[in-house]
Amino acid sequence: MSGHALFSAAKAAMARSYAPYSRFPVGAAVRTDDGAVHAGCNIENASYPEGWCAETTALGHMIMAGGGRVTEIAVVAEKMPKIMPCGGCRQRLSEFVTADAKLHLCDVDGVVETVPFTAIFPSAFDMEPGA
Ligand code: THU
Repeated sequence: MSGHALFSAAKAAMARSYAPYSRFPVGAAVRTDDGAVHAGCNIENASYPEGWCAETTALGHMIMAGGGRVTEIAVVAEKMPKIMPCGGCRQRLSEFVTADAKLHLCDVDGVVETVPFTAIFPSAFDMEPGA
């Protein structure tokens, strides 16, 4: 799948966003090594810190569909020209990415920039010493 197809999945997920508090809809999609795509949106609630990100929803869908290793990620937010995953989501994604996983940074029209996941999350915390 191209970055464009993954972007389309992320954008479609953004349309499902439940963000009445921040009014900042986000969509994310991950592709696993078997080619499957899992998407998610951010989901907020009245206790503001208890909401969660689009990337986290996408990972939940991935795990419930059988898991896998994440080879590509796309994230889009309609109010931002190039959204970056937050710190918590970088750690969550880090658990499942392949060594050469790519991150597609998108605006509402498509992929703006593609970077290696390692570029945005070097020296990740890992329970395996020396990993
Ligand atoms: N958000 C995401 O969904 N992903 C990110 O990477 C950054 C932030 C959401 C969380 C919250 O619902 C809204 O954007 C504003 O922070």
